[in-house]
Amino acid sequence: MQVLFSKLLFIALCLLLPLASCLQIGETCSNSSSSSNTCDAGLICGSCPVNGNTRPRCTRIQPLNPTSKVKGLPFNRYSWLTTHNSYALSGSNSATGSVILAPTNQEDTVTNQLQNGVRGLMLDMYDFNNDIWLCHSFGRKCYNFTAFQPAINVLKEIQVFLEENPTEIVTIFIEDYVQSPQGLTKVFNASGLSKYWFPVSRMPKGGQDWPTVDDMVQQNQRLVVFTSISSKEATEGIAYEWKYVVENQYGDGGMINGSCPSRSESSPMDTKTISLVLENFFPTNPNTNITEACANNSAPLVSMTRTCYKAAGNRWPNFIAVDFYQRSDGGGAPEAVDEANGHLTCGCDSIAYCKANATLGTCDVPVLSPPPPAQLTSTSTGPSESPGNNSHISRQVDLLWLIGQMITTVILLLRL
Ligand SMILES: *[C@@H]1O[C@H](CO)[C@@H](O)[C@H](O)[C@H]1NC(C)=O
Ligand SMILES: *[C@@H]1O[C@H](CO)[C@@H](O)[C@H](O)[C@H]1NC(C)=O
Ligand SMILES: *[C@@H]1O[C@H](CO)[C@@H](O)[C@H](O)[C@H]1NC(C)=O
Ligand SMILES: *[C@@H]1O[C@H](CO)[C@@H](O)[C@H](O)[C@H]1NC(C)=O
Ligand SMILES: *[C@@H]1O[C@H](CO)[C@@H](O)[C@H](O)[C@H]1NC(C)=O
Ligand SMILES: *[C@@H]1O[C@H](CO)[C@@H](O)[C@H](O)[C@H]1NC(C)=O
Ligand SMILES: *[C@@H]1O[C@H](CO)[C@@H](O)[C@H](O)[C@H]1NC(C)=O
Ligand SMILES: *[C@@H]1O[C@H](CO)[C@@H](O)[C@H](O)[C@H]1NC(C)=O
Repeated sequence: MQVLFSKLLFIALCLLLPLASCLQIGETCSNSSSSSNTCDAGLICGSCPVNGNTRPRCTRIQPLNPTSKVKGLPFNRYSWLTTHNSYALSGSNSATGSVILAPTNQEDTVTNQLQNGVRGLMLDMYDFNNDIWLCHSFGRKCYNFTAFQPAINVLKEIQVFLEENPTEIVTIFIEDYVQSPQGLTKVFNASGLSKYWFPVSRMPKGGQDWPTVDDMVQQNQRLVVFTSISSKEATEGIAYEWKYVVENQYGDGGMINGSCPSRSESSPMDTKTISLVLENFFPTNPNTNITEACANNSAPLVSMTRTCYKAAGNRWPNFIAVDFYQRSDGGGAPEAVDEANGHLTCGCDSIAYCKANATLGTCDVPVLSPPPPAQLTSTSTGPSESPGNNSHISRQVDLLWLIGQMITTVILLLRL
C-alpha cells in the first residue's frame, strides 16, 4: 500500500507540477539539473550515437513486472531480465585495493539492478583470499587485479532484497570455480540466503512445468540457484544448471543474426525434457567500446529473441541475459523481456498488451503515433518537444486514471 501510494504521489507530481515535468519513453530529455525535462521513473535519459540516435531520449531500464498481468503461472511461464556478470561494475576498484584490469559488464550495483526488475544474476565465483570472491580470471585463477569483491557482499544484497520483497523470486547462475569443500554452502549460509533456497528435489526433471510462482512464494522458496559444476548437486544440493536449463552460445558466437546455436555444455536448445530456456546476448569482449552496447541491446536483441524462440522449439526464453542492461536506443532489454512475457503469459506481442483475465490471445494493441526523428535536430531541443499530439491526450487520460486510483486508495485506506 505504501509503495502504491508513493508511486501515485510521484505520478501526481509529474502531472501537476509543470516544473517537475516527467517525460515518457522516447521523449526528448535532458540530464541537466536545471532542466525541467527529466524522464519518468523507470527511464533514464540516454542516446545511442552508433545507431544514429543522437537525440537524448527517455530510455527504458525496467521491464514490466512479469507477474503483473497474468498471475500464478508456473515459474517457467515467465521471462526474467538477467544481467551477465552482474557484479562486474564499471569504474569500481577491487576490494583488495588493486585497480581492476578486467572487463566490466554492468554500471550499477546488484541492489539497484534488483530494484529495476532484474531477476536473474550471473556470478563468477572463485576461491580467493581464504574466502569466495566474485572475480574474472586468467587461466581459471583469480588475481587482485581481476577480483571485484567477496561474494558474501553481493549475496547479502540479494538477501536484503528478498527480505524486503516477500513476493519476488531471484535466480542465480554461478560460473563455479570454487574447489574448497562446501565452499558455496558456507557462503550462502553466512549470507542468510539458505532459508530461501528452492530445493533441487522440486525442480522438474522431465520437461514438466515448474511449481507456480505463488507456490514458490508461499513456501518462501524464492531463491533458485544453478552451478556449472555437476558434482555439487550431489555434494551440496546445488542444481547443475544444464539439467534444468538449455542455453544458447554466449559471446560473439551467439550474436549472429538468424542463428541461435546451443552452448557446448547445454543440451540442444529444443530439448523439451528441459523446462527452462536461457538466451545469452552479449559480445565476447564487453567493453572494448561500451558505447556499442546500446546498439546490441536494441533491434538485434529483439531479433535474436525471436530466433532463439524458434531454435528452442517455439519456446520463449525464461531468462534474457545482457551486458550493460540499461543501455539501448529506447526499449532495450526490458522491451525484449516484455515481448517474451506477452507471449508466455497472455499470447500477445508484449505483456503491455495483455488484458486482465482475458482468454489467451485477446490483446489491447495501442495505436502508435509516428516516432520522432532519431537524430538531434535544431528544433528538437526545446522544452515543449513531444513525440506527437497524442501525448497530451494520454496525459489527460493518465490524470483521470490517477484521480480514480487516488479515490480507490483513499477508500481502501479508510476501510483498513
Ligand atoms: C544521463 O545520465 C545517465 C545516468 O548518469 C547516463 O547514463 C546517461 O548517459 C546520461 N544521458 C545523456 C544524454 O547524457
Ligand atoms: C592482494 O591484495 C591483498 C589484500 O589487499 C594484499 O594483502 C596482497 O599483498 C595483494 N597481493 C598482491 C600480489 O598485490
Ligand atoms: C548450512 O546451514 C545448514 C542449516 O543451518 C546446516 O545444516 C549446514 O551444516 C550448514 N553447512 C555449512 C557447510 O556450514
Ligand atoms: C566507440 O565507438 C564509436 C562509434 O563506433 C566511436 O565514435 C568512438 O570513437 C569509439 N570510442 C572508443 C574509445 O573507441
Ligand atoms: C554489436 O555492436 C557492435 C558495435 O556497434 C557491432 O559491430 C555488432 O555488429 C553488434 N552486433 C549485434 C549482433 O548487434
Ligand atoms: C536479422 O535478419 C532478418 C531477416 O534475415 C532481418 O529482417 C532483420 O532486420 C535482421 N535484424 C537485424 C537487427 O539486423
Ligand atoms: C481478474 O480475476 C481476479 C481473480 O479471479 C480478480 O480478483 C480480478 O478482480 C479480476 N480483474 C479484472 C479486471 O476483472
Ligand atoms: C499536431 O496537431 C497540429 C494541429 O492540430 C497539426 O498541425 C500537426 O500536424 C500535429 N502533429 C502531429 C505530429 O501529429
